[in-house]
Amino acid sequence: MRAAVVTSFDTPPTCQDIPTPTPQAPDEVLVDVIAAGLHPRVRSQADGSHYTSTDALPLIPGIDGVGRAPDGTLRYFVLPDTTMGAMAERTLVDLRRSVVLPEEGDPVLIAAAMNPAMASWVALRRRVTFERGQNVLVLGATGNSGRMAVQVARHLGAGRVIGAGRRPEPLAALTELGTDATVSLDGAPDEVAGRLGQAARDADVVIDYLWGQPAADAMRALITNRADRGRPLTWIEVGSVAGPTAAIPSAALRAARLCLVGSGQGSVPTRDILAELPGLAAEITRGAFRIDAHAVPLADVEAAWRDTGAGRRAVITP
Ligand SMILES: NC(=O)c1ccc[n+]([C@@H]2O[C@H](COP(=O)([O-])OP(=O)(O)OC[C@H]3O[C@@H](n4cnc5c(N)ncnc54)[C@H](OP(=O)(O)O)[C@@H]3O)[C@@H](O)[C@H]2O)c1
Repeated sequence: MRAAVVTSFDTPPTCQDIPTPTPQAPDEVLVDVIAAGLHPRVRSQADGSHYTSTDALPLIPGIDGVGRAPDGTLRYFVLPDTTMGAMAERTLVDLRRSVVLPEEGDPVLIAAAMNPAMASWVALRRRVTFERGQNVLVLGATGNSGRMAVQVARHLGAGRVIGAGRRPEPLAALTELGTDATVSLDGAPDEVAGRLGQAARDADVVIDYLWGQPAADAMRALITNRADRGRPLTWIEVGSVAGPTAAIPSAALRAARLCLVGSGQGSVPTRDILAELPGLAAEITRGAFRIDAHAVPLADVEAAWRDTGAGRRAVITP
């Protein structure tokens, strides 16, 4: 069968022939893959930089997808840490890590949306006690996960939703997705801090896809401008596109009621992530969230990898 194969962490995967794998465990089945999303998480799997990565090569990338199981059901599946990923004509799926989808579901849209939507869905439902009416700042709102976070926060009953991001056009487009205000992160750090501090001074929850210096600057800005420093502020670290480390001022943790948590594999147990799949898949299938996706044939996987523009989510279709 054909698969995307990573043979070196320095080069993109290429489409190659590999032997078809055989199920080994009682709940494992061979699934015909229909669509697998090319998420940042998959890129970091393929370049060996994700915190779950091992040195094992070759590997087939892809952490989730939509496929047809031997019993004929259409399923969304999440794979464990494995070298037999989703970007292949067939892959091994543990049925307990999958959810049956309605036949009318669009596999490409579902494969595109589940990972970026899970980021905020799980963060708000599993890492904080999120209450309707609370105000949410999405830091790094112009990416696929950020755009989803705006919609998920709105869907879960947020009060004000503020989106902060760099590029003007996707930032302006956030209003259609449900933001009450947007903040440009473009410009001198002092100006950005001023804008952010004013717009998000009453935030209750921050969903942070950036980390790095922008997160440290934003934290300082929000705390400095807070009307009531005793009002809880929960900062959920979800992504790190602006840098793997951030210099958090110690005063931030003393001068305000700041709680810093992370959300991802490990900080949320696998059983909790799996428990969220059916509800989120149902919402995505009924069209509750908008996502821009484009299908790329498996044969073109190498070109898809080289296209790193942060726009529509690429979905590999074997
Ligand atoms: N923990 C989880 O459960 C989880 C789940 C999904 C994703 N994530 C993580 O979340 C992050 C974002 O994922 P994604 O799906 O949204 O990726 P994406 O669609 O590729 O978008 C990335 C966005 O990051 C923005 N960006 C990059 N560097 C920036 C900087 N220095 N300042 C401001 N914005 C910057 C880009 O902004 P421009 O528009 O300005 O170019 C782009 O819109 C990744 O780190 C991913 O691994 C975590």
